[in-house]
Amino acid sequence: MLRMVVLVSGRGSNLQAILDAIENRRLAAEVAKVISDVPNAYALKRAKRAGVPTCCVERRDHSSRADFETALADCAEEAEPDLIVLAGFMRVLGRGFLDRFSGKVINIHPSLLPSFRGLEAQRQALEAGVRYAGCTVHFVNLGVDSGPIIDQRVVPVLPEDDVETLSARILEQEHDLLVDVIRRFGAGLV
Ligand code: GAR
Repeated sequence: MLRMVVLVSGRGSNLQAILDAIENRRLAAEVAKVISDVPNAYALKRAKRAGVPTCCVERRDHSSRADFETALADCAEEAEPDLIVLAGFMRVLGRGFLDRFSGKVINIHPSLLPSFRGLEAQRQALEAGVRYAGCTVHFVNLGVDSGPIIDQRVVPVLPEDDVETLSARILEQEHDLLVDVIRRFGAGLV
């Protein structure tokens, strides 16, 4: 069965979608560990509630980015993952982490990449005046939200949308898309 490590920084609704899909047997996989870079991230509570081991690796506890990434990678490697999922993990990872999990790290991003990389993608979409927005799951490379695209979902942008309403519409699709991509990865189809 596919063993995952999920990296989070915040609310963890995408993590919850994965945990729910496993619980409901819509996804044959296991979350072996949840790692946060933010100690009070709500995602950690969700993991504990589901009985998933957690750990927190904070940037400020490490003198360099390289040391931080080594600690993060050591923590992930202990769980022997087949796949590492960045689910609302808000840091850019470099070679110190990625070289140890080549082809095994995916990220979910709330835009139709390659448009609107980086922070506040939904706000960027609204400011650009696009009529369609969405989300993307992609492999993580050294760039920011620039790795090979695995799949996407599209939602309309409505005239009355603000960041909150658009984000909510995209988020619903994120949950579905992420579980779907993980299922396909587990089946060797990605
Ligand atoms: C999600 O919208 C995710 O796509 C986004 O953060 C949110 C996390 O929500 N990620 C990024 O913007 C990464 N660049 P969640 O914590 O409820 O899953």
